[in-house]
Amino acid sequence: MNILSPSILSADFRHLEQDILEAIDAGAEYLHIDVMDGMFVPSISFGMPVIKSIRPVTDKTFDVHLMVEEPGRYIDDFADCGADLITVHAEACKHLDRTIQQIKARGLKAGVALNPATPLCVLDHVITKVDMILIMTVNPGFGGQKYIPEMTEKIAALRKMLTDRGLETDIEVDGGISEDTIRTVLGAGANVIVAGSAVFGKGDIRGKAARLLDIMGEY
Ligand code: DX5
Ligand code: ZN
Repeated sequence: MNILSPSILSADFRHLEQDILEAIDAGAEYLHIDVMDGMFVPSISFGMPVIKSIRPVTDKTFDVHLMVEEPGRYIDDFADCGADLITVHAEACKHLDRTIQQIKARGLKAGVALNPATPLCVLDHVITKVDMILIMTVNPGFGGQKYIPEMTEKIAALRKMLTDRGLETDIEVDGGISEDTIRTVLGAGANVIVAGSAVFGKGDIRGKAARLLDIMGEY
């Protein structure tokens, strides 16, 4: 199933609840929540208190993307504040398998994210244990960057790798997805689509989310 996961990183935090409700009203099933620690990525975004405060706004899936060094330190905190799906970066975990186990032990869905330069082979021995793989289509750390074209081939290779193993694991793509690039990633085999600036950037959130969802309906 194709799912839109609008990234609140590009929302206006003065009226976060209203922005979230508009995106959900358009048909978004997930809400993408980018946590940055200023170590794994250069920037710092927000953490548990913000997630906790928006949890009552909706029962849609909170898709929490941890751009955090050694995220295993915080799995319980993010579970407690309302995450439904926690994605950790393979590059940020010394013990990736253990971190996946920690997420699953809390009854949550687990995802693994790969930076653009990280090869798919790091997934070889965990691929059967995760619910989602996130292919970064920009270098993580900021909203509003340009889609890296080489990632199309990576998405297609991952979809083949999953199909060859009889798996229907979700492939999420994150970074630079807009009306111009969404067909490319859907065609390559992605099915969970993160969009930050393309949904929350300047005005008509509902309309922009609806147009992306229309295109997703064609695949
Ligand atoms: C970037 C974040 C993204 C970001 C995407 O490091 O992981 O989720 O919000 O923003 P856009 O869609 O504007 O590229
Ligand atoms: Zn993200």
